[in-house]
Amino acid sequence: MSSGSAAGFDEWYSNMRGSEAHDDLHQRHLGLPPRLLSSSLLTWDGLAEVVEALRLAPGDRLLDLACGRGGYGLEIASRTGARLIGVDFAPEAIDQARTLAQQFASVDAEFRLGDLADTALPAGSVDAVVCVDAIQFQATAESFEEIRRVLRPGGRVALTTWEALDSADERVLARIRAVDAETGLTAAGFANVVVQDRPQWRAAERAMWEEAAALDPGDDPALRSMHDEGVKVLRTFDLTRRILATATAG
Ligand SMILES: C[S@@+](CC[C@H](N)C(=O)[O-])C[C@H]1O[C@@H](n2cnc3c(N)ncnc32)[C@H](O)[C@@H]1O
Repeated sequence: MSSGSAAGFDEWYSNMRGSEAHDDLHQRHLGLPPRLLSSSLLTWDGLAEVVEALRLAPGDRLLDLACGRGGYGLEIASRTGARLIGVDFAPEAIDQARTLAQQFASVDAEFRLGDLADTALPAGSVDAVVCVDAIQFQATAESFEEIRRVLRPGGRVALTTWEALDSADERVLARIRAVDAETGLTAAGFANVVVQDRPQWRAAERAMWEEAAALDPGDDPALRSMHDEGVKVLRTFDLTRRILATATAG
């Protein structure tokens, strides 16, 4: 994983360009088809739950916030007929998402630079927001408020991320300890806030990290990054919980 800055993510994504092994690991363990380029841990079955939670109709406007290479948003838009706007702060991610979109010819998609807490989209301009495994990079009141701001009243949000079982446990990464989706969404004015544990997603996640941690990355920097992250994540795997958070803009 990158250092967390836009420049760090740019380098992380540049390294992925040359690494089929990186994408193969994700797709095998998460059950994803080759066109769904993921840089996270959401499985194919998990994606179906996210799609259901978003309640999209054809023509609706979907924001994929911190979209990375765009795979999940493009897949959701292709299933539902929604129009997609992807936002990420890493230019390399946006560039790769625009290229990937060419494989989803039926999808009306655009990708723009923007921040989790400042998308530059007009207020009330989207019907749904999806944020896959990214809110933990900036789980601040400002990020939750930005999601609420861009949604029309009645619009839906679905976030996948991790929380610490004990937010005081310093063995868990600080950015994960900072995540409190229920408080963040409620304080931002959302209704029907539901935060569900998703232990059934974790078997695939653990297996992917175990394979990454055990492999010899050779001179592939994307695999090296996965290897190092796998070693780190597995140390505290059982101290975190996987969540799907959903809510309706009030
Ligand atoms: C683990 S990746 C997930 C990407 C994508 N959602 C996926 O699931 O494949 C986290 C993403 O969050 C983006 N990100 C991190 N902090 C951000 C911020 N403050 N504003 C916008 N994007 C951010 C990174 O550039 C990266 O693309």
